[in-house]
Amino acid sequence: MNTNSWQHSLVKKTLSYLISPKKLDYYSTLNWEAAIQEFRNSSVVYPSYYTEVNIHGIPGGYLNSIAPITYDLVTALATLPSESNLRKKVIDTIQGHPLSILDVGCGTGSTTILLKKNFPRSLVIGLDLSPYMLVAANYKARQQDLNIKWFHQLAEDSQFDSCTFDLITIAMLFHEMPAIVSQSVLKEVFRLLKPQGQLIIVDGHQAKLRKMLWLAKLFREPYTEVYVRENLADWLAKIGFQLQLTENVGWIYQIFSATKPT
Ligand SMILES: C[S@@+](CC[C@H](N)C(=O)[O-])C[C@H]1O[C@@H](n2cnc3c(N)ncnc32)[C@H](O)[C@@H]1O
Repeated sequence: MNTNSWQHSLVKKTLSYLISPKKLDYYSTLNWEAAIQEFRNSSVVYPSYYTEVNIHGIPGGYLNSIAPITYDLVTALATLPSESNLRKKVIDTIQGHPLSILDVGCGTGSTTILLKKNFPRSLVIGLDLSPYMLVAANYKARQQDLNIKWFHQLAEDSQFDSCTFDLITIAMLFHEMPAIVSQSVLKEVFRLLKPQGQLIIVDGHQAKLRKMLWLAKLFREPYTEVYVRENLADWLAKIGFQLQLTENVGWIYQIFSATKPT
């Protein structure tokens, strides 16, 4: 056995304790470069804030297969004591019955899938800048027979028409991008929402995390230090959203609900 295959089998053995064997088998035998072609939008130009940092210690951030393989595990740890309570809070915050839903920065689709399960007849779309993450999201959705559309796009410059969505969700995105880009994403989301449409954001609690920056170091998050200096409620107000709710969730998270005025 050469060093490479020895390392490969050690990583596989370690991961097999933490990820379901079926999922691990699928991921480890998948031809990722072929699989991403199903989602890759060749007109996307990756910004340097996305390509030039390591996220969660992974070189190249989200543009490789290690990111989706390890993401759900890292997230389960980062959202202790209960990731499912955190995601359920998003569902509990939804007003009425949205018919068109966009999950921005959907990653491996955990929130997107929950949205589709709760609104099976609605159009549910997940948007992400990593086609690798979309491959994993699509695999998870297919396992549950859910029809979700996945789009490889920039959140701050999506290709959707104005006033398209009743509900837009953004989970755990803003602590992973420069503050100026987060504000561009919010402007784009404002454009995409229908009048009276609802925006729900769940992300790290800025005031709490200011005192716990060691957590950002532990999870190797390059933008969290900048994110925690800001105030999400101020961003929303500046763009013209009407803030309806802001609450603490779990240990270190916050949820916001806002609407686009008529
Ligand atoms: C921390 S993950 C959150 C994933 C998911 N929303 C969740 O709750 O688990 C951040 C995701 O945002 C995506 N992302 C980062 N910058 C983006 C951008 N400018 N446009 C679209 N997606 C982006 C990353 O590829 C990654 O999948």
